[in-house]
Amino acid sequence: MLTKPAIAMLAFLSLLFFSAPTVWRPLTPTPLPFESFNTVSTQRPERLRGLNKVLHNMTKMGYESDYYLRIWLFQASQVPKDELDRVLQQASRGYNKTLIITVLNKAYTEKNGMLDLFLRSFRLGKGTKPLLDHLLLAAVDQTAYERCKLLGLHCYKLVTDGVDFSGEEFYMTGNFVTMMWRRTQFLGEVLQRGYSFIFTDTDVMWLRNPFLKLNQSSEIDIQFSCDGFNGRPEDESNPLNTGFFFVRSNNKSIALFDKWYDARNNSGGMKEQDVLLQMIKNGTLRERGIRTRYLDTRYFGGFCHDYRDFGRVTTMHANCCRTVRAKLMDLSLVLEDWKTYRNGSVVLHNPHKTCLIDSWDELKGH
Ligand SMILES: *[C@@H]1O[C@H](CO)[C@@H](O)[C@H](O)[C@H]1NC(C)=O
Ligand SMILES: *[C@@H]1O[C@H](CO)[C@@H](O)[C@H](O)[C@H]1NC(C)=O
Ligand SMILES: *[C@@H]1O[C@H](CO)[C@@H](O)[C@H](O)[C@H]1NC(C)=O
Ligand SMILES: *[C@@H]1O[C@H](CO)[C@@H](O)[C@H](O)[C@H]1NC(C)=O
Ligand SMILES: *[C@@H]1O[C@H](CO)[C@@H](O)[C@H](O)[C@H]1NC(C)=O
Ligand SMILES: *[C@@H]1O[C@H](CO)[C@@H](O)[C@H](O)[C@H]1NC(C)=O
Ligand SMILES: *[C@@H]1O[C@H](CO)[C@@H](O)[C@H](O)[C@H]1NC(C)=O
Repeated sequence: MLTKPAIAMLAFLSLLFFSAPTVWRPLTPTPLPFESFNTVSTQRPERLRGLNKVLHNMTKMGYESDYYLRIWLFQASQVPKDELDRVLQQASRGYNKTLIITVLNKAYTEKNGMLDLFLRSFRLGKGTKPLLDHLLLAAVDQTAYERCKLLGLHCYKLVTDGVDFSGEEFYMTGNFVTMMWRRTQFLGEVLQRGYSFIFTDTDVMWLRNPFLKLNQSSEIDIQFSCDGFNGRPEDESNPLNTGFFFVRSNNKSIALFDKWYDARNNSGGMKEQDVLLQMIKNGTLRERGIRTRYLDTRYFGGFCHDYRDFGRVTTMHANCCRTVRAKLMDLSLVLEDWKTYRNGSVVLHNPHKTCLIDSWDELKGH
């Protein structure tokens, strides 16, 4: 649907196009806000491209360029260049070029699987349901992509030639490492296109709105969740976890992601998280003036160190857990406990036994 100002503008432009070639003057002195054109430009790119051509011809014919002409040209330049541009625009609409990204494969999309649990947390969480509009699922295989579309979410197909990511990838197998690097490359591209994001693993339960707990200062470039927290948000020795982090898009963060991704060849099969840790330790971030913060595990928690404090918890990550099966078991219990808490009853927190004990035993001999 075209908005009213857009219809008015179309009428206005056709009038101009067919009227006498006098110098064009704005008919109305009231400037229109750029935002009123956003819906048109993202929903009707083909129309705008046509209009852009008309405007181009008009300029060539000597019509005086003016405020509205420039608005239209600006908006025409906002027409998505490609599929990634389109999904980024959609997922961040009304959210200041900020969105939430998770990477999804087939194994996670099975019925009653990780994706279902992840989405359920948004629905059960406090103020998290509207955030689903800003969630982009990057699917690494066709099955995951189709499932995402079926759920009516924002989806992007993240292709990598010749690699099958569809199975459950255990920690540190070759494909797992390749997938993580592809993810780093993709997130770097998102930054390059001017979008800031929270990256979240799908095994993170969103119980409160994390944006409210992140430092809003534009001076902070990256905020990492941690497996443990020593009380000092600026201390680089906090054990960061790349399962949940926020990155602000700017020149520094773009350059960092480039450098991080470029380091993969000399990483000797290291995980992307370990390469990043090395870059932090050897001062790569400091010398580039990148300001990082480490998030308090009381708010951005995980199984490694669970405070069992539903009064504060914002996200809960199934870290320190080796199998998807165990994560599913223990995260389901977290959501059950959360429901009890929300309904005002006393919570006896489950101890994440399947993850912390069974999942490690299960993998012995692997
Ligand atoms: C623009 O002008 C060219 C020739 O000058 C013409 O072929 C084309 O159809 C015009 N485009 C529009 C959209 O009016
Ligand atoms: C939107 O983001 C820009 C750039 O990061 C920032 O300068 C601006 O203050 C933000 N606006 C709002 C309303 O958050
Ligand atoms: C956010 O970071 C800035 C810059 O380091 C700091 O001055 C401010 O106190 C922080 N805000 C919060 C809420 O922690
Ligand atoms: C970021 O980089 C671009 C292009 O290299 C440059 O034009 C711009 O001034 C830089 N911005 C900042 C804030 O350094
Ligand atoms: C890393 O290796 C790939 C192929 O293995 C090559 O295409 C790429 O240019 C290399 N990158 C760097 C930064 O060396
Ligand atoms: C720091 O570590 C990264 C990742 O291994 C490497 O690419 C980079 O060259 C190192 N920098 C210095 C100054 O040692
Ligand atoms: C809270 O949960 C209990 C047990 O599941 C149930 O009996 C009770 O009706 C619930 N209370 C509310 C207000 O939903």
